[in-house]
Amino acid sequence: MKEIKKGVFWNGKVDWEIKKFHGDEYSTHRGTTYNSYLVKDKKTALIDTVWSPFGAEFVRNLNNQISLKNIDYVVAQHAEIDHSGGLAELMEHIPDTPVYCTNNGLKSLKGHFHKDWNFMPVKTGDKINLGKKELLFIEAPMLHWPDSMFSYLTEDNILFSNDAFGQHLASEMLYNDLVDQAELFQECIKYYANILTPFSSLVEKKIEEFKSLNVPVDMICSSHGVIWRDNPLQIVTKYFDWAKNYRENQITIVYDTMWNGTGNMAEAIAKGIKSVDDKVVVKLFNISHADKNDVVTEVFKSKTLLVGSPTINRGILSAVAGFMEQIRGLKFKEKKAAAFGTYGWSGESVKMINQGLENAGFELLESGLKSTWNPDEKSLNECVDFGKEIAKKSKYTQPQ
Ligand code: FEO
Repeated sequence: MKEIKKGVFWNGKVDWEIKKFHGDEYSTHRGTTYNSYLVKDKKTALIDTVWSPFGAEFVRNLNNQISLKNIDYVVAQHAEIDHSGGLAELMEHIPDTPVYCTNNGLKSLKGHFHKDWNFMPVKTGDKINLGKKELLFIEAPMLHWPDSMFSYLTEDNILFSNDAFGQHLASEMLYNDLVDQAELFQECIKYYANILTPFSSLVEKKIEEFKSLNVPVDMICSSHGVIWRDNPLQIVTKYFDWAKNYRENQITIVYDTMWNGTGNMAEAIAKGIKSVDDKVVVKLFNISHADKNDVVTEVFKSKTLLVGSPTINRGILSAVAGFMEQIRGLKFKEKKAAAFGTYGWSGESVKMINQGLENAGFELLESGLKSTWNPDEKSLNECVDFGKEIAKKSKYTQPQ
């Protein structure tokens, strides 16, 4: 347990080992942390717990610091088991202690644990008095689940934001100013791109709502990664930018290839783009080898996405199909796109990718480019010309 402000303690778990999160849906190259906080005043409140496999260790550590029966309130800001997993173990020891959560949190916690704990559902504006300090609750639906909420601790001016403003970064350093800044922000933008993109309009509104409370913020304590104590609002400013249909001067080319025909098309297209615009960042990813969450992060940063697949069985390669499903759910806005691919007989891939891109909310710049078999010099020149057109049509004025 580490004291982060007088009477406020971090009692989480640093998980250096985890490399996949949400099953296999999210890569955690740099591990993660599950942050739990204990606030001691006249009354004592515990905010969130840890992932289920660490539940027993969590309770043991807590019990070494405080008699569990002295915990007056448990706050469960979010029911996903990376934060509520330790509850099952904890509540075995203190079954009557009230558990504060949103109405949706109550449903979700019951759904996960099938227990009738002493739930105390709260709404935005509800508070619990801890003595000198108060905990104010702020519902944050869809940031990132319907049950999510924040808690604000008066006197210490701490915002406990659960998943929001977090990142999957294992560190023993605890604070944002003590870790490598490039690693930190890479994990922050990856987290936003892969988890929060579909809820961007709600992110903006929630930030505005929180600003209107006009309360000082000295620290933001999210439930993953570091505590924001140095200029804590810098991550809020980043979220504000990312929520506004974020894009940089980048074009990303995502493809899969069987005998490298579509791969050669991708490289020729990239050459065409660069010949017209030497400032644009162009990145190529073979999606069957690349990390899908890292690729999504690159798409998030892009103004234009090109997707390529050869035709197989009247369709597209399975890695590309999986990627198309991933971007469909993320609801990117104000991004442009086009498709390409080789074929031998029927040639459906470009049409299918076009449909997928439109379903995912991308604006098609071109009807797409097909090439038969292994592209020859003439076909590769067409790819270069296609790249030139894409570069010209992707130009836009960078937002200030
Ligand atoms: Fe970190 Fe939504 O759980």
